[in-house]
Amino acid sequence: MADKISIMISEEDVNAKIKELAEEISRDYAGKELHIICILKGGVFFACELAKRLTIPVSLDFMQVSSYGNATSSSGIVRIKKDLDDSMEGKEVLIVEDIIDSGKTLHYLIPVLKQRNPGSIRLCALLNKPDRREADVDIDYLGFNIPDEYVVGYGLDYAQKYRNLPYIGVIELDAD
Ligand code: IMP
Ligand code: MG
Repeated sequence: MADKISIMISEEDVNAKIKELAEEISRDYAGKELHIICILKGGVFFACELAKRLTIPVSLDFMQVSSYGNATSSSGIVRIKKDLDDSMEGKEVLIVEDIIDSGKTLHYLIPVLKQRNPGSIRLCALLNKPDRREADVDIDYLGFNIPDEYVVGYGLDYAQKYRNLPYIGVIELDAD
């Protein structure tokens, strides 16, 4: 049975927002180079679309993390499954993530990355679920605040599916 997916944010609206964010980031970092750290796997679609629209010089690196703990309680400690390839020392770093939910992942990760002596470090997220926040995270560049619903598309998955949808959608679980 195919899952029924309803559109929460259209492809057109996502793309327009990414263009706006890219313009803002390009202005803020004018005259500098930006080192983007894409958080795999979910951040990859957003990171590419954002990077394509930036007018400043960009380098890219990738990191994959997962929550560390048991099934019932998240410790808020993050395991690095794939670490960065390059040093971030002295670089203007922008972390690019698909969604900030509880906030635990980035709340843990940002201080860890700060210890690697970047010139600066900021966070850009496509989506934010403020109602779900358990740990403080400052989002410097945000696409959309969304309600507490499980979303897919634009990098976000449900059991590894639907990352490739070009819009943000909600799965209707009680679909026929
Ligand atoms: P948190 O902010 O530490 O709770 O974790 C954020 C991570 O949980 C994101 O990077 C996503 O991988 C995943 N996540 C949270 N909410 C959703 C959702 O609605 N759809 C798909 N993945 C989600
Ligand atoms: Mg993620």
